[in-house]
Amino acid sequence: MTVFGSLPPAEQARQLANPEGRVGLEVAEWLNGNNRDGNARTLAMLGVQAGDRVLEIGFGNGRAAPDIVAQAEDVRYAGIDISPTMVAEAARFNAALLAAGRASFHLAAAERMPFEDAAFDRVFSTGVIHFWREALVPLGEIRRVLRPGGLAVLGALDARCPPPFARPELGFFLRSADEWAELCREAGFGTVHARTIESEQLTPDGTPAKRYAVRVTAQR
Ligand SMILES: C[S@@+](CC[C@H](N)C(=O)[O-])C[C@H]1O[C@@H](n2cnc3c(N)ncnc32)[C@H](O)[C@@H]1O
Repeated sequence: MTVFGSLPPAEQARQLANPEGRVGLEVAEWLNGNNRDGNARTLAMLGVQAGDRVLEIGFGNGRAAPDIVAQAEDVRYAGIDISPTMVAEAARFNAALLAAGRASFHLAAAERMPFEDAAFDRVFSTGVIHFWREALVPLGEIRRVLRPGGLAVLGALDARCPPPFARPELGFFLRSADEWAELCREAGFGTVHARTIESEQLTPDGTPAKRYAVRVTAQR
């Protein structure tokens, strides 16, 4: 069994929402394996081009940054996360990119981003937006930091068949693809698509199970 699988649901939820300490580092590593396919799909949908400035919200241990900057010439990556443990680990893992000025990792929340208007061409996030009870605030921030025509790709747990830890009383606010699409339109995005994707993932105790994820693309 993984370290994550050995935790009670409330602690699993807490470590996913804000990974902390040694356990947080192990949870983040477990997530890397679990989210590999989803992250690859997100990357393909982002369509990163030469010179793009790309923002990741909730980067965890920062393993997506090298893939982003490898997409094309002169791509710059910035990430925000609310976990000091994750910011330190992402900076450690990406020390060379950081030193080269091609990536930056900020301790900040999606609800209040430390960036100018229209600072990014692309924004993406995996496994974070389902923590947003009041989703219009961070969605409005994503729209604000995207340039006109810029694209956001957001992935989250779907409301269908949630794992045991993904409950509102533990800080998870799961929505359907239609509900996310509606919220993005309300936040002011012009073109929005959202759909549910079915996949096979490992449960925390290591057995394969069907999981449902929402993938949203929203263009400013
Ligand atoms: C479940 S982990 C996902 C990490 C990574 N995206 C992945 O797929 O492996 C969620 C991450 O989002 C961060 N996070 C949660 N709420 C956030 C918020 N409002 N703003 C920024 N980061 C947030 C957490 O600290 C954590 O590192």
